[in-house]
Amino acid sequence: MVENNLSSASIASNLKTRFIGQRIIYYPKLTSTMDVARREAQQGAAEGTVVIAGEQTAGRGRIKRAWLSPKGSIALSVILYPGVTYLPFLIMLASLAVVHSIDKVAGLKSQVKWPNDVLINGRKVCGILVESEVRGDKVNYAIIGIGINANFRVSDFPEISSIATSLSDELGRDISRLDLIQCLLVEIERLYLTLQAGGSIYEEWRDNLVTLGRRVHVKSGEDVYEGIAEEVARDGSLLLRRSDGSLTKIVAGDVTLR
Ligand code: BTN
Repeated sequence: MVENNLSSASIASNLKTRFIGQRIIYYPKLTSTMDVARREAQQGAAEGTVVIAGEQTAGRGRIKRAWLSPKGSIALSVILYPGVTYLPFLIMLASLAVVHSIDKVAGLKSQVKWPNDVLINGRKVCGILVESEVRGDKVNYAIIGIGINANFRVSDFPEISSIATSLSDELGRDISRLDLIQCLLVEIERLYLTLQAGGSIYEEWRDNLVTLGRRVHVKSGEDVYEGIAEEVARDGSLLLRRSDGSLTKIVAGDVTLR
């Protein structure tokens, strides 16, 4: 029987972390975990505090998009207080933690679409949103938001059914959201501590990208670019080889694989 009884106590029970998830704030239903996490961070919540929702009614995606978080999905936000030099690595950290956890708990191979979507067989299974408040070179807080399509049928949601998948759709059965959340929190902590100890996660993130070598269409603000995704820089930006031979560095954007 798959364990799906999420609560602060069930998630915190036997959680093998030092600080990530040592405080869990769980809501069966919430507008967005990002909003609660921001409020908590502004009030000085302990580093590693996690806000989790059983379902979200106003989930937020990147570039002001809505994020669908129905019952059966995973929606969580983690509060961190990193040094400013670590900020570009939080996206890498989060996507790698998701790839590792999906592999360990569901036995499924996933890949990262630059900058931070996680795909299975070319379809989106997870979205990541990093929001931070920075004053000068001081990070007041950073929040990693992770949404995973875990146990629901994407065919029930026409707005995403052509581009998305879920773990249960891929496996033909439900997975334990509890196991996946716990594994994710352990992986986030491990990678965060690796960074803080001076280690690098860039190489592994790069190796897990589905984007490199592919012809892509990139929308970055008002600008649109076409080219071959040739490389990613250590700061996470994408280097795009254009048809005129020039190389364009793109810091943030939305990629469509051609
Ligand atoms: C994207 O792909 O555009 C990012 C989606 C991020 C969704 C997660 S779900 C948990 C957290 N709460 C939100 O409202 N958004 C993030």
